[in-house]
Amino acid sequence: MTISETIKLRRSCRTYRDAPVEAGKRAELHTFLEANRATPFGSAVRFALVDLDDLDADARRPLGTYGVIRGARLFIAGVVGAGPRAMEDFGFAMERNILAATALGLGTCWLGGTFRRSGFAGRMNPGDGELLPAITPVGYPGEARSLTDRFFRFSAGSDRRKEWHELFADGDPETPLARESAGAYATPLECVRAAPSASNKQPWRIVRQGSAFHFFLARTPGYDRMPKGIPLQNVDMGIALCHFELAAAERGLAGRWGIGDPGMSPGGREYIASWTADG
Ligand SMILES: Cc1cc2nc3c(=O)[nH]c(=O)nc-3n(C[C@H](O)[C@H](O)[C@H](O)COP(=O)(O)O)c2cc1C
Repeated sequence: MTISETIKLRRSCRTYRDAPVEAGKRAELHTFLEANRATPFGSAVRFALVDLDDLDADARRPLGTYGVIRGARLFIAGVVGAGPRAMEDFGFAMERNILAATALGLGTCWLGGTFRRSGFAGRMNPGDGELLPAITPVGYPGEARSLTDRFFRFSAGSDRRKEWHELFADGDPETPLARESAGAYATPLECVRAAPSASNKQPWRIVRQGSAFHFFLARTPGYDRMPKGIPLQNVDMGIALCHFELAAAERGLAGRWGIGDPGMSPGGREYIASWTADG
């Protein structure tokens, strides 16, 4: 499976089959998590598998998801050192774990709100200034989605994505970038569109300018106040950067991330970073 196929295949899974992830796949995931340290803006991240089957009832009790996730016994938790673009870096690296799990045939679901953060933080022993923005369950998707799962998908409109002209602009923020004009970058941009985002708000906005793609955040007013200290929409931006970079690399499109003055502020949106194509 190619990376862009994996990206398109991924869906949030909230209902899991009562079958453990085999030792071989668990070992592969573990190796991936251990090696997954590179982030676009240099924040330190670390990840671990949390296996409920290894824990007694007392240790399991604080590891709840308020009934949102059914049947999962394995989770990936992660922490990031606080600092500029820490949430973007976390989103980028955690999404690589999610895609690695997807490629192994496993279901996942980003959880930034509906889980007991302090319980999972307890398993990670965060150091001073380390934050735990989100976790994901990992396991085999169940046959039928639970009512809660269907409710979440319906209320977030999870099967829909904004149209190209709402997300991508060409040259200046007012001119929509048509798919046909995006050339080799059509797939990387399509992969941004397919990305998961908190409550499916899809806050990513991209303006192409010459060989650069400027990424902006269209923050949903009031949305980012919860959970406290964890701006989930900045995590969404990191996920978008991840999809864009991986899909570009797959097509042999080299480039790098940077933070510079893009010289524009489309509709008061927040500038996050730019990708500049090499050559
Ligand atoms: C940063 C982030 C946080 C999320 N937090 C939660 C959560 O707390 N609970 C939940 O059920 N889904 C959560 N989601 C999943 C989104 O609702 C989901 O990605 C979106 O509706 C799109 O659906 P899809 O992932 O199936 O494409 C989160 C997603 C992201 C990216």
